[in-house]
Amino acid sequence: MREGFGSAFGVRMYQLEEETEADWWEVEALYDLCFAPGRTALSSYRLRDGVDKIHPLCLTLREDGVLAAVIRYWPVRVGGRRVLLLGPVAVHPTRQGEGLGGLLMLESLAEARRLGWERVLLVGDYPYYRRFGFWKIDGVIMPPPTNPDRVLALELVPGAWEGVRGPVEKAVPEKTPPAGNPL
Ligand SMILES: CC(C)(COP(=O)(O)OP(=O)(O)OC[C@H]1O[C@@H](n2cnc3c(N)ncnc32)[C@H](O)[C@@H]1OP(=O)(O)O)[C@@H](O)C(=O)NCCC(=O)NCCS
Repeated sequence: MREGFGSAFGVRMYQLEEETEADWWEVEALYDLCFAPGRTALSSYRLRDGVDKIHPLCLTLREDGVLAAVIRYWPVRVGGRRVLLLGPVAVHPTRQGEGLGGLLMLESLAEARRLGWERVLLVGDYPYYRRFGFWKIDGVIMPPPTNPDRVLALELVPGAWEGVRGPVEKAVPEKTPPAGNPL
């Protein structure tokens, strides 16, 4: 999954790699380009604040070194169970519709399954994500204001969402409670 790949005829050469610290500004700039300003004010970002990404699933896709598409994942919890929060995924506006978003989705989800993750959640457009097997899930509540119709789920293991319902919570507490004052 980490090696470069491309056309046998050298028409296009892509590199699919895990995001590194050195990529950070470039990746942020691509997200800024693809999403409305103030994207980090979205409620889903509150679930990410202070929580480390799932590094092996955060991928960059470059063509001849130029960043074309990115995807990131964070851990969250629902009903005390581990859940992968997919996103954001973004493809450079000049490269949209070429299958790069689909490639990142499929590669990262395959890797997530290989790493033992069982269930995935995202906030997004059902008409796009249903092709990867996502469906609208009831009873899994993202922090407001989130349109419940945009809360989508995927099972990487059959039955993984059965009985898993409730508010979506951060994967780790923001602060370690002082001694004698447990959360
Ligand atoms: C959404 C996005 C990631 C898709 O990546 P992409 O590489 O452009 O998409 P792909 O080439 O894999 O797939 C193209 C198909 O998806 C469809 N599609 C793209 N965005 C869609 C959307 N928001 N809703 C429904 N369908 C969509 C296209 O119409 C096309 O359909 P077709 O296969 O029937 O022709 C990309 O367009 C993007 O970065 N958009 C801006 C940021 C964004 O909205 N991110 C997703 C929210 S987390």
